Amino acid sequence: MGFMKKYVSKHWKLFLVAVFFVSMEALADLLQPTIMSHILDVGVAEKRLDYVLRMGGLMLIITALGAVAASLRNIVASHVSQKFGTELRADLFEKIQSLSFTNIERFERASLITRLTNDVTQVQNFVNGLMRIFVKAPLLCIGSLIMAVRLNPHLAVVLLIVVPIVGVLVALNLKVGFTRFVGVQKALDGVNRVIREYLSGVRVVKAFNRFDHEAGKFQEANTDYQNKSIQVTRLLAIFNPSILLTVNFGIVAVLWLGAWRVNQHQMQVGHIVAFVNYMTQILFALMTISLVFNMFVRAKASANRIGEVFTQVNEMTWEDSAALPAHRPGGRIDFENVSFGYEGSAGEPVLKNINMTCLPGETIGIIGSTGSGKSSLVSLVPRFYDTSSGSICVDGVDIRQLDPAKLRDRIAIVPQKTILFSGTIEENLRWGHEQATNDEIVHAANMAEAHSFIAACPEGYETRLGQRGVNLSGGQKQRLSIARALVRKPDILILDDCTSALDTATETKIKQSLKAFAADVTCLIIAQRITSVMDADKVVVMDDGEIVGIGTHETLMKSCRVYVEICQSQFGKELPHVKAE
Ligand code: GTP
Ligand code: MG
Repeated sequence: MGFMKKYVSKHWKLFLVAVFFVSMEALADLLQPTIMSHILDVGVAEKRLDYVLRMGGLMLIITALGAVAASLRNIVASHVSQKFGTELRADLFEKIQSLSFTNIERFERASLITRLTNDVTQVQNFVNGLMRIFVKAPLLCIGSLIMAVRLNPHLAVVLLIVVPIVGVLVALNLKVGFTRFVGVQKALDGVNRVIREYLSGVRVVKAFNRFDHEAGKFQEANTDYQNKSIQVTRLLAIFNPSILLTVNFGIVAVLWLGAWRVNQHQMQVGHIVAFVNYMTQILFALMTISLVFNMFVRAKASANRIGEVFTQVNEMTWEDSAALPAHRPGGRIDFENVSFGYEGSAGEPVLKNINMTCLPGETIGIIGSTGSGKSSLVSLVPRFYDTSSGSICVDGVDIRQLDPAKLRDRIAIVPQKTILFSGTIEENLRWGHEQATNDEIVHAANMAEAHSFIAACPEGYETRLGQRGVNLSGGQKQRLSIARALVRKPDILILDDCTSALDTATETKIKQSLKAFAADVTCLIIAQRITSVMDADKVVVMDDGEIVGIGTHETLMKSCRVYVEICQSQFGKELPHVKAE
């Protein structure tokens, strides 16, 4: 909860203003019953109309002041809580953005979304409540107690019994409630997760007619949420009436005790009326206190979950002074004894003892069966993850010393899973390089064989893409993704299986253009088809996280069993020859 300090120190002044107005409001409420008892005991009992009018006027003025304070308090409270919520949400968003993949993957994505939305709202509501009922309830409670005791110490004996019982009830409620509310929050996470999964895979769900299955999953999550919520409501359903009952017993006791004393002429009726009034105020204050506690419990659970994100320390560190040498052509990559494993996958290394060097201008093909670690290998270069052991140097600088942002400036990547963003085609291409000229963009699109289909779109480069580019074919998306990388003019270009959705003719054309483009660019090309990599300067063969062969097509055909097997599986016994250029 340490993250709250920042907002407290920023908003405490206005907060105090709100609390001041709330106190005024509570004071107004507290004065009413006493004035009322005076009107009854003096004005009515002694039939003094002027006194009744005077006190009635005073009562009106106090009520009016109370109402004004309430409006001002409302304005200030919503202002502070809205600002607080907005700032908290922005900070949390920024924090999430600054975290490394490893940090982010510790949370489920659905839960990050609930943290950003529901949890922040929960805390914001609590802050708002703090300035409204939360301060008012204890003030009214304690104030009424004092006023009641001052008014009539004899009747106050009843309070001596009622207040501790209610106190215990409220405490119990708090204790039992906490875990339940945490449970509700978890269940809500579950509902969000199922919805998210369904929506992101809606086409596949429909294609496989898995709607019933998904609906079942949703039903399950929803029912779980329902059950947890019911548990909480049940808790409230038991505690709130018990508090009500206790206080009402107290009121009956006051009436009885008061009537007895009035009979004995030791007390006036006005006192009883005022006392009952105070007791009702205490009752409502206590009821709201248990409500306040419930909200507090909720907000605390939410604040904890927000705090979990804030306390994530980005494990990716760097030295601000470290920089890549400016000389060109750059883009040399050295892997030295690199091993790597994803966090949480039982420590099983995905990459083992990787040693290789990629020189500027070299094109390196990477091939290997699925799951052999190709994508993991290239994801280490832009420092998406840090190695478990060994080091990777770019242009002679260990990338662990580099600011990832500076490193990534030099790298363009075409990820295996194409991701485009809503916006126009041009905007998407400009992700590669904000300041690219229109000519550069068209040139890149031409190289990626994307220009012709973009030009055929109704609005050309201004055509808007739906979310994730749903209105494009898989191959069209891949070509945009390639063009986006080429716009960047990087030192290092990483193509992860980026021609899987293209026909061989288009692939060949793109490869031709790439050859000219990549003359002084280090190019890492992952492919499934041997034909895609066989004319590379070097081919790296991966098997089960290890490099089992590095060399040209010819040398590998002679020396690498795995490579020969891949070749045979793709071409049968007749092996292709590299075309001499
Ligand atoms: P294909 O793309 O299918 O050809 O495979 P690949 O060679 O690119 O394999 P990749 O590097 O994606 O995966 C290697 C191993 O790492 C596999 O056993 C995966 O289960 C594992 N792996 C890949 N990505 C992740 C990840 O994000 N988290 C975890 N925990 N494991 C992963
Ligand atoms: Mg892969």
